[in-house]
Amino acid sequence: MLFLDSSDPKEIRDIFAWGVVSGVTTNPAILAREAPGAELETTIRLVCEVSRGHVSVELLAETENEMMVEAERYHSWQPDRICIKVPFSEAGLRVIHRLSQRGIAVNATCLMSFNQAYLAALAGATYVSIFSGRVRDMGYDVRPIIRELRAIIDREAISSRILIGSIRHLMDVNEALQDGAHIVTVTPPILRKMVWNPQTERTIREFNDLWAERKQK
Ligand code: E4P
Repeated sequence: MLFLDSSDPKEIRDIFAWGVVSGVTTNPAILAREAPGAELETTIRLVCEVSRGHVSVELLAETENEMMVEAERYHSWQPDRICIKVPFSEAGLRVIHRLSQRGIAVNATCLMSFNQAYLAALAGATYVSIFSGRVRDMGYDVRPIIRELRAIIDREAISSRILIGSIRHLMDVNEALQDGAHIVTVTPPILRKMVWNPQTERTIREFNDLWAERKQK
């Protein structure tokens, strides 16, 4: 499946109309870039209105109790749609576990390794988000991480879904899906690149030109 990595209601509305996207992921950096002056609750409610599926909203607090309070607030905005994005740490693990015990959808985020993702999955995360581009920025290969994680999730029948984010190139999407990611979250520009192919453009043009130039009897 594909999720959209965006908080821009216009882009989200346009792209959901294609029928190919099943959820939305946001993070503080995306929100700061796309909606700098807007109130978070207003933006997220708007994002929910123009999309379907889970909308991930990331916690900013860094202590367990503050994270729980913040999570409660986001969850109350739309309990069936908001997925609490929990940055990974020891406190994060406790929060992932507490929220998932209560049936609240959780996206464990900022994961860079197999062992982190396995812990987040065991703690009960709905999604375990591995950051492909950032892993590769460190000089590591993300592909075996995805493959090994998928193998253990299947072997142990763990319900967490592998979500691959931090996508920089089209091949990151293709490889993640081939390696066993359940979901890849992509920005609108990456998704538009997935649509476009010069040979498709040329072929459509050729067909339509031939039709327009046909000899009429
Ligand atoms: C995923 O959920 C994150 O929002 C995102 O993909 C992070 O990507 P970045 O490395 O471009 O910040």
